This record gives sequence, C-alpha cells and structure tokens, in this order.
Amino acid sequence: MSPFSPLLSWSQTHSTTLTHHPLMALENHHQESSNSILVTGGAGFIGTHTVLQLLNEGYRVSIIDNLDNSVEDAVDRVRDLAGSSRSGNLQFHVGDLRNKEDLEKVFSRTRFDAVIHFAGLKAVGESVAKPSLYYNNNLIGTLNLFEFMTKYGCKKMVFSSSATVYGQPETIPCVEDFQLMAMNPYGRTKLFLEEIARDIQKADPEWRIILLRYFNPVGADMSGQIGEDPKGIPNNLMPYIQQVAVGRLPVLNVFGYDYPTKDGSAIRDYIHVVDLADGHIAALRKIFSKDHIGCVAYNLGTGRGTSVLEMVAAFEKASGKKIPVKLCPRRPGDATAVYASTEKAKKELGWKAKYGIEEMCRDQWNWARKNPWGYRPQP
Ligand code: UD1
Repeated sequence: MSPFSPLLSWSQTHSTTLTHHPLMALENHHQESSNSILVTGGAGFIGTHTVLQLLNEGYRVSIIDNLDNSVEDAVDRVRDLAGSSRSGNLQFHVGDLRNKEDLEKVFSRTRFDAVIHFAGLKAVGESVAKPSLYYNNNLIGTLNLFEFMTKYGCKKMVFSSSATVYGQPETIPCVEDFQLMAMNPYGRTKLFLEEIARDIQKADPEWRIILLRYFNPVGADMSGQIGEDPKGIPNNLMPYIQQVAVGRLPVLNVFGYDYPTKDGSAIRDYIHVVDLADGHIAALRKIFSKDHIGCVAYNLGTGRGTSVLEMVAAFEKASGKKIPVKLCPRRPGDATAVYASTEKAKKELGWKAKYGIEEMCRDQWNWARKNPWGYRPQP
C-alpha cells in the first residue's frame, strides 16, 4: 500500500478555499466536532488514545507518523474501536516531519483546522547518547511543521510538552509559571520547542498554541485493545512492571529506596492516558472558542503523588500477580518527588483527571493480559 493511498479526504470532496471556509464561521459556536485535525505521532501510545477520543467526538482526523516507535496495527485497532460510522473520518499517512515532501502531501490534500503535535523521540538515556538524533528529530521536525502550518494557514496547535521542563523542582506541586530547566537533551528539546512556540506566537498573534505538560501517562483504553508498546527494554516504570507481570522480564529494579519519602522510593504523578486524551479535547475546545489565547502552558496531571512501591502494590492488587523487586541505587538525574498543580487546567480548560491509580493499574493490566507482547505476535 502506498503511504498516501487511503486518501479521499473531506477537503477533496468539498471544494473550499482557505479564506472562505464554512467551518470558520462556526468556530465560536462550539461546533468544533466537525473540525479536521492533523495528529502527528498519532500511531503512538498517547496519540492512539487521543485519536480515538477525537473520532468519538466527531472530529475528522489525519495521522502522520513515521512508525519509528509505533505500528500501523495500532491505528487499525483505533478504527475498529471507533466503529464503522466514525472510522471513515480517519486518514493515516506514513510520513516523517523531517521530510518536507511528506508534509506537502498531507497539507496539500486536506485543510486542517488545528494540529495536535505528538511526534518526537522521548527516551532520556538515548537522548544523552545520541543528542544530534534528538535535536534533529524533535527540533527540525517541529520547525518544518510550523513552516507548513504557516504556509497552509493553519495557526492552531496543541503541543506535547512534558513535566520534564520543570527539571528538579525546588517546590511541589509544579506550577506552570515555575522557572523551567532541562536535565538532558530530550528535556532540552521540549524546553526549546516551548520557547520556539512562544516566539512564533509573539511574532504573529494569529497563532493560538497550547503547550500541554504531561506528568506520567499510564493505563490504557478500557477495551484493552490499545496501549503502550515500547520497543526494547522499557525505560519507564509501568511498561516495565507490565512486562514483569506477563513474564517477559524477571524482576523490577526499583531505582532508589533512600529518598526522603514515606517508603524511600521516588514520587510521581501518574495520570490515566484516557484522562490525558480528554485534556487534548479540552485544549482544542479552548483553541476553537477563544480568539486571543496566545501561547499558554497547562499541566496535565492528577495533583496526587504516588511512590514507586505504592505503584507496584497497586499493580499487584489489580493483576493478582506478584512483582518481584530488587532495590537498586538511584537513577541518575531522577527527582525525589514531582507532581502537578492542576488548578490552571481546571480553571481555564475546565478539565480535571477522573481516574486514580486503581483504574490506571486495572486498565494497564487488561491491556497487558490481552496483549502480553503488545501489538506483536509472541516471538
Ligand atoms: C521519565 C523521564 C521524563 C520523561 C518521561 C516520559 C527521566 C529522568 N525522566 O520520567 O523526562 O518525560 O519519563 O514518560 O528518565 N523507575 C524504577 N524502575 C524502572 C523504571 C522507573 O524504579 O524500571 C522509577 C524511576 O526511578 C522514577 C519512577 O519510577 O522514580 C518513574 O519513572 P519513569 O516512568 O521513567 O518516569 P519519570 O522518570 O518520571
């Protein structure tokens, strides 16, 4: 199949121009569900969950993804979950943001009302070993995206940022106006991209940009059909626990047991990926309903901190599986405790996380037991 073959998009069947688009008049009347959204990195973990939610809300969605850390099967499953009446609103393009020809093909065929930009590399350790790869992929890809959005008159973006921009926060909870700091090349790409977005919006106030700072996304869609499926040995806690639970890995290394916390392990703000996906819908609503939002950052977290050992206990309870642990030295660069202030998102986006760690572990386990090898067949 050619990467661009499944295209007969809404914009091809409706003759419109950029300046006289029928949807523009509706923007301020909360008719966002008929809008067309480009989702970069839409085949990935957070991407698939967000795309499903967008389809369920009636949006038209185009994904561009280079399948570097994702598989097309995940998109097929999103189509199945959305059902036959909605799945026709989803277009999938294999493409790389570093390749301007790929961007030209996507932008020239569909008129987008907004872009949700997930695509990027995110492994901290790898970014330390291969900084050029991270700067090239995350920075060049995003600069190209800004260029094509400008060229095609689409100046609304929701950007995947990360709590990593708070570095080692001196106080918690993390509030959006804290001073930002990066601890590694991956973190610097997020920080630089936030700054670039602020500069682009300042230079051209027509832009409306929302930067979403994710805390620790975990869990899976309740169907158990889509979920996180990292390549190789997982870097992050929950995918690692999941692989121990299904027997792919023998033991969880707990990095740090001498932190000044109640059980000695580090504290993070875990957030259900379905809540996170909802946060993107809330951000789009704000972007479509308000004229002058500028470039503004919101935390997406629960505001509650959970230790590594508490997370292990919650997963054991949800799965009925024993997770053997080995207490290990701290992982370099890790903070003691990080969790979000959720006030700004609550007040300005009308969004608040609904799920707690019990539901996160329940849904993560449901995904794991149905797909012990992720999207791949057992080797
Ligand atoms: C990490 C990244 C962060 C990135 C995020 C992406 C670092 C320092 N930070 O966040 O920049 O945005 O992932 O999802 O890598 N843990 C274990 N054993 C494991 C794995 C993790 O004990 O096998 C511990 C960690 O030490 C940490 C907690 O679990 O205390 C959460 O770790 P992780 O899931 O990697 O997330 P962060 O470190 O918060």
